[in-house]
Amino acid sequence: MDINQIDWSEIWRNGKIFFAGNADKASSWDHAAARWNNENADDYGKKVIQRIKIKPDWTVLDVGCGPGLLAIPMAKKSKHLTALDVSSEMLKYLKENAEREKVSNIKTINIAFETAKIGKDVERHDIVVVSRSMGWEHNLEQFLRGMNDAAKKRAYVVWGASDRHFDIGLYNAIGRPYGETRTYIVIYNLLYQMGIRANIEIFQTKPTAITYNSVDEAQSELSKRFQRRNRNEELTPEEKNELEKYLKKTLAKSKEGNYRFNNEKPTLHALIWWDKRLS
Ligand SMILES: C[S@@+](CC[C@H](N)C(=O)[O-])C[C@H]1O[C@@H](n2cnc3c(N)ncnc32)[C@H](O)[C@@H]1O
Repeated sequence: MDINQIDWSEIWRNGKIFFAGNADKASSWDHAAARWNNENADDYGKKVIQRIKIKPDWTVLDVGCGPGLLAIPMAKKSKHLTALDVSSEMLKYLKENAEREKVSNIKTINIAFETAKIGKDVERHDIVVVSRSMGWEHNLEQFLRGMNDAAKKRAYVVWGASDRHFDIGLYNAIGRPYGETRTYIVIYNLLYQMGIRANIEIFQTKPTAITYNSVDEAQSELSKRFQRRNRNEELTPEEKNELEKYLKKTLAKSKEGNYRFNNEKPTLHALIWWDKRLS
């Protein structure tokens, strides 16, 4: 078998877990902004920051910055940081958080990265960082090329590397094969095919929780995964029942009043980085 015949972009495109149905990207992320702003992820933030090389006279582009978990500490270490996000709500929280921390060297850009013209909408920066932000991308190769183009020195991607027990249980419960294909190894292999020999490190953080405001919200969000156009994957009424039973069984009400699936093991992450490739 010739490994170069494997179409990693196509494999990524077929991924299920991060599929958001026909939802509009900006408004869906707007909807999730308050939840991400309250996320308790100091452990993750610290572990990523300590692995990213930034010098005081360098510029940084944070793609999919969210409320600024990484953007704010990276801005403190650099000359200037551009915080780019498709969601204006995320940027609203980021600005509030930066002001509270008295960080004033951040510029925000509200755009979907894949639609941005590099050198025009978005300047080139020394470092480009994409953390947990490319799950919904259909054209991964274009996204990665954009990152390489926007970087003057180095580009970094962080992506989950743990087995997804909640999702595996969910597919088991409804009786469908799991087979998620939007995994870090696809990113790494696609870079290889693009001629980029990237570095990789797997690191771990404390166990995390998957959180929903209610079981109904979980049911409605998760059902979207099965609403792919022309795919005939919609859940049947029996599968919907099984999904509901699964959620009621696995999501526990927390003392804050939301519903959680607590992962028991530490979470694994893949940090992938490469020096800018000129081609
Ligand atoms: C899961 S959050 C991660 C936030 C932050 N990078 C972190 O690791 O804490 C994903 C963020 O990426 C943004 N995002 C997703 N796809 C994007 C795209 N194509 N272009 C720009 N922003 C995007 C979302 O709006 C959201 O703020």
